[in-house]
Amino acid sequence: MLFFEIRIIINIGYETDNSKLVKLKTKIHSSLRTVEWKNNAVVMIDQTKLPNKLVFVKYTDYKDVANAIRTLVVRGAPAIGISGAFGLALAALQSKAKSKEKLLEDLEKARNTLFETRPTAINLAWGLDKIMKVANKSNNVTEIKKLIIQTAKKMAEEDIETNMNMGKHGAALFENNDRIMTHCNAGALATVGYGTALGVIRATKESGKKIKVIATETRPVMQGSRLTAFELKHDGIDVSLIPDTAVGYAMFKGLVNKVIVGADRILRTGHVYNKIGTYQVAMMAKQHNIPFYVAAPLSTFDLKSNPEDVIIEQRNRSEVTQIGDRKTAPDDIDVINPAFDMTPPELITGIITEVGIAKPSFEESIKKLFKSKM
Ligand code: MRU
Repeated sequence: MLFFEIRIIINIGYETDNSKLVKLKTKIHSSLRTVEWKNNAVVMIDQTKLPNKLVFVKYTDYKDVANAIRTLVVRGAPAIGISGAFGLALAALQSKAKSKEKLLEDLEKARNTLFETRPTAINLAWGLDKIMKVANKSNNVTEIKKLIIQTAKKMAEEDIETNMNMGKHGAALFENNDRIMTHCNAGALATVGYGTALGVIRATKESGKKIKVIATETRPVMQGSRLTAFELKHDGIDVSLIPDTAVGYAMFKGLVNKVIVGADRILRTGHVYNKIGTYQVAMMAKQHNIPFYVAAPLSTFDLKSNPEDVIIEQRNRSEVTQIGDRKTAPDDIDVINPAFDMTPPELITGIITEVGIAKPSFEESIKKLFKSKM
């Protein structure tokens, strides 16, 4: 397959089994970048290999970046946004255009290829649009290419800064001995570094509070067990893994007193789109009077769309009918496999952003946060 021929696994020194990885004297969030620009190439952690192997892949063709987004080599809304921006930077370098018009044409084509990979996380459109805007800022082809690369690199650096600011705001909501449930992976691996929901958890721990995390395994792709449990354990944060089906049990038993998740898209009304199962966790939290928080950067907000406009990605049936190569369902069974669901604002206690916390009623509160950024 073309994809595998082109992709190069670099830095095999890191390719090791999990037990050796844990011995590395580095923190996932401070030492590793999920995605970065290095010597005119995009380097990313192949998340499909975690937690068993830490493999870095290097791409010089934007089509490979698109494929990496589609196949979950890179995933998580902010990480997808930055990957899209880097993908366009590659497209700019790949273009043989001699005029601005031709370069913009090539970039538009690449934008569409990258945009079509995953429909729900708004950060992808955010990342692509930001680069397309910059591409219009000069008339000189060389200058445009330089501007695009500079901007994409800056966006990646700002992602970490944004997450750390989100962490500072969010940590104030958490107390000593909190038992925090999280769903999916909104960690360093879902961003360039530090994480959104897990960034808040990291900041809470860094502020000296003792906390315990309960991570759901997050079927069918297991981002909770493969990624969240991995990165928290690796960084020395107390974490227990539960099957998705034990959310009610854990809350009923008092094992959880707060919930925090990330988001793929948040509407101006406070409707939150996140990994499938988030809605169930929020409903269960409501039933048990447990505060339910969402942490996401302003780049995850979609102030224009209404709930009926949002496309929920439907993924391949094999994610549900088999575990690895082992078949776990009858042949030809009908499968419904949505990757995301929507949590309505009435189930949400607060939305933590890099500029502050939105509280109900969300429409007003979100407006104020955006104004404060201007
Ligand atoms: O399908 P994925 O793994 O890309 O889904 C990721 C999530 O739903 C995350 O919770 C969300 O992107 C927040 S990431 C900071």
